[in-house]
Amino acid sequence: ADTALHRFTDILVIGAGIAGLRAALEVPPDLAVLVVTKDRLTESNSTYAQGGLAGVLSPEDRFEDHVQDTLIAGDGLCDPEVVDLVVREAPGEIERLIQWGTRFDVENGSLALTREGGHSHRRIVHALGDATGFEVMRAIIARARQMPHITLWDDSFTLDLLTDEGRCVGAILQRGEWGRILVWARQVILASGGCGMVYRETTNPPVATGDGMAAAWRAGAQLRDMEFMQFHPTMLYVAGSARYLISEAVRGEGAYLRDVHGERFMLHYDPRAELAPRDIVARAIFQTMERTQHPNVYLDLSHLDPEKVRQRFPGINRVCRAFGLDITRDRIPVRPGAHYMIGGVTVDRDGRTTLSGLWAAGEVTSSGLHGANRLASNSLIEGLVFGARCGRFAAEAARSERERPVPRSLRFLLPPPDNSDRLDIADLTASLRSLMVRKMGIIRDAQRLREAQQDVDFWCRYVLFREFDTRAGWELQNLLAVARLMIDAALRREESRGTHFRSDFPQRDDVHWAGRHVLAPPRQEIPA
Ligand code: SIN
Repeated sequence: ADTALHRFTDILVIGAGIAGLRAALEVPPDLAVLVVTKDRLTESNSTYAQGGLAGVLSPEDRFEDHVQDTLIAGDGLCDPEVVDLVVREAPGEIERLIQWGTRFDVENGSLALTREGGHSHRRIVHALGDATGFEVMRAIIARARQMPHITLWDDSFTLDLLTDEGRCVGAILQRGEWGRILVWARQVILASGGCGMVYRETTNPPVATGDGMAAAWRAGAQLRDMEFMQFHPTMLYVAGSARYLISEAVRGEGAYLRDVHGERFMLHYDPRAELAPRDIVARAIFQTMERTQHPNVYLDLSHLDPEKVRQRFPGINRVCRAFGLDITRDRIPVRPGAHYMIGGVTVDRDGRTTLSGLWAAGEVTSSGLHGANRLASNSLIEGLVFGARCGRFAAEAARSERERPVPRSLRFLLPPPDNSDRLDIADLTASLRSLMVRKMGIIRDAQRLREAQQDVDFWCRYVLFREFDTRAGWELQNLLAVARLMIDAALRREESRGTHFRSDFPQRDDVHWAGRHVLAPPRQEIPA
């Protein structure tokens, strides 16, 4: 019998990072919003954001400059209209966060602005020094909790989107002790974030397993640009420590990158040196590690004012101290780590996906803002601007629908899990994450990509169509599905652009690839 519980809402929001909560907060109070997240409310990439939010806030800065910096970093693949829209709406969104209680850092009575790679001006607002995401999410979660029309569910894993006759009508969840719940919604907003966990080396928290990308793909929504995983140049690399992000703002404030011999190698790679766009810095570090046969490079802040450094980067200081490193004196060992998935579910300017009834915002999407390489601190503002648009337009769509979705029984789709062969989920997850670092990392070529594809295809064959009863099992399925799409896209893009570098096609190829996106193949084309 069908034992799942049924629940109705006007708008279902999947994901409680900055994009999901901003979307929920935009829905007018006469509509019911249910926000679900698989972990705790505070556990998202948004919470861990260090650097900040980019916005034109100083009199010396101009919208045109922020647009131009974003387009240059995006390496010919941004949608200029989307860039313009986000850049113009960013200051208003930052202002709204302040009204909702976010305390950004202030200097001489105005917002303190920092620089990061690829930005021509100081335009990054930050909070608590280097814990911007924590402060922003504190304020936005508090705001959402005050709203009677918003219900927040943690510990609620979205197993799949529900579709009926080509439109999204809700989702099937596994909610802690409650078990399976079918949530039927007039409109669904996907804001489930990225998939950094597909790599062994990542700045992302363990929740970033690409669940929303995989679910949207299974439901038939279009995904694109999955070859563009952005690697952050500087992840703390100390044996035994979590792979902790060392914010780009550290270089923004003047830190140097040095190789194991003490040489400031970035000067040989780009005139912008440590503040060149991320793809350039990450590749230069990778090549330096290969040249010196050393597993990391070093950040050096010893020439900066120690008091200022400690004050500006309290979180980084604390974590490094725990590993015996004094950031004002010692060189900090760092290497690149997977940081941000630029590709994802295709959305238009309103946040509409290609699947009717489904909207999306934030890292789970490909909106056209980031092109082939995201400019630092442009993602929280994307989450805000597109979250707000999704909330507004999904609410309008929900209102125009007279009928609510008709619940169906799903008992035929829920075979009992089969644990008889004792699949070692943790082992396979670790194998996948290592494979991605080795064969689908910062520098790629056809041969290694094909090898990766073969392994992942093989694993997909016995994992994707199985019924699991644990979060680790569902996450492995999602990681595999996303990895498969990423490798496929990386193989197909036979050029180098932005974060995607092919040593067998080392040049950008505007003759064949100008403005072209790689679309994810439909589900039938993935081996069963
Ligand atoms: C950082 O603090 O370096 C991260 C900023 C970003 O990824 O946008």
